[in-house]
Amino acid sequence: MQEQKRIVEKDAPLKKDDLIVITGAGGFIGGNLALYFRKKGFTCIRAADKKPLYEWYLQVPGVENLCLDVSNETNCHRVCEGAVEVYNLAADMGGMGFIERFRVECLRSILVNTHMVEAAYKAGARRYFFSSSACAYNTDLQKDPNVRALKESDAYPAMAERGYGWEKLMSEMFCQEYWHERGMKTFIARFHNVYGPHGTWDGGREKAPAAICRKVIEALDKQDPRINIWGDGHQTRSFMYIDDCLKGIDMIMHCDELIATPINLGTSEMVSINKLVSKVEKLAGVKLKRSYDLDAPKGVAGRNSDNTFIKQVLKWEPNTPLDKGLAVTYKWIKAQYEKRKKGHRVGIG
Ligand SMILES: NC(=O)c1ccc[n+]([C@@H]2O[C@H](COP(=O)([O-])OP(=O)(O)OC[C@H]3O[C@@H](n4cnc5c(N)ncnc54)[C@H](O)[C@@H]3O)[C@@H](O)[C@H]2O)c1
Repeated sequence: MQEQKRIVEKDAPLKKDDLIVITGAGGFIGGNLALYFRKKGFTCIRAADKKPLYEWYLQVPGVENLCLDVSNETNCHRVCEGAVEVYNLAADMGGMGFIERFRVECLRSILVNTHMVEAAYKAGARRYFFSSSACAYNTDLQKDPNVRALKESDAYPAMAERGYGWEKLMSEMFCQEYWHERGMKTFIARFHNVYGPHGTWDGGREKAPAAICRKVIEALDKQDPRINIWGDGHQTRSFMYIDDCLKGIDMIMHCDELIATPINLGTSEMVSINKLVSKVEKLAGVKLKRSYDLDAPKGVAGRNSDNTFIKQVLKWEPNTPLDKGLAVTYKWIKAQYEKRKKGHRVGIG
């Protein structure tokens, strides 16, 4: 059945004291998003995460922090009470090492979005943001390192990444129906690998840029000139710097043309993992002997973001050069590594 087309009514511009709710705020993107809105002058921000506060990567002054599990429906109502905008960034996730190994955990994040979108709707929130992923795309289209970049229509016919990708696809559909059937404005961004300071860099959930920075720092520290790379190093990806991600979330959430419409949020600067290692080596001023673990989790062979749609709608695309973002990230991870070595407590992000 064709869904009925809704008339988009213009809503009031967001006021600086309107309540913004961010879930997953103890993690990488959610924490940075709370900081972003705080810096923009918003005074009423509520952040929620299931981790105890001392494990949050960022605690932003002036933000109300709640340690609550939002896979629980009652907690979602508490978190969304009075919200004008809701940003749901909570999910059990990590790099390939995590999402290939813990598919059940990833699938169970369906509870988070299911309850959060309902609670946001019941609370009368004006806008709801869902952080989807490039893992929602059909994996059959990603079998070659020289892939064609993925455009939004490539999610269907569906053959998403097992576990994590299917959860994202299903949660996207929830968001779309809350608009079509119930009239809440929902927004869906498919992130392509995000990296930067205050992200996970050790412990098993880290993604390639952070993992490679850490391995290079470790090699230097231990004076062991070797590095082990997952896969054959020819896999390709694009990596988006956190500042672009935050700006993109803000722009997407406030663009009525994008209601209930999944959109890529990533860069189109595709690199192989080998090239990524070379970039980090250059930053560190070292050349390491590479070994390849062909049995390690490596994900699809190639993936890149087709940015035609975002450029058309927002007249913008993520544009921080990888070299620039990596330099900042490397420096930050090095500082964390040294702090930990001195016995200080650091979040693994
Ligand atoms: N980082 C990336 O490259 C990337 C790529 C694609 C999509 N995403 C999506 O963006 C969002 C944020 O990712 P991130 O990189 O910040 O991950 P992250 O792991 O750093 O942060 C996620 C946070 O969600 C919290 N969380 C998980 N389940 C929860 C629950 N039931 N209740 C409350 N909190 C819960 C975790 O404790 C964690 O702090 C996720 O939805 C993720 O799937 C991220």
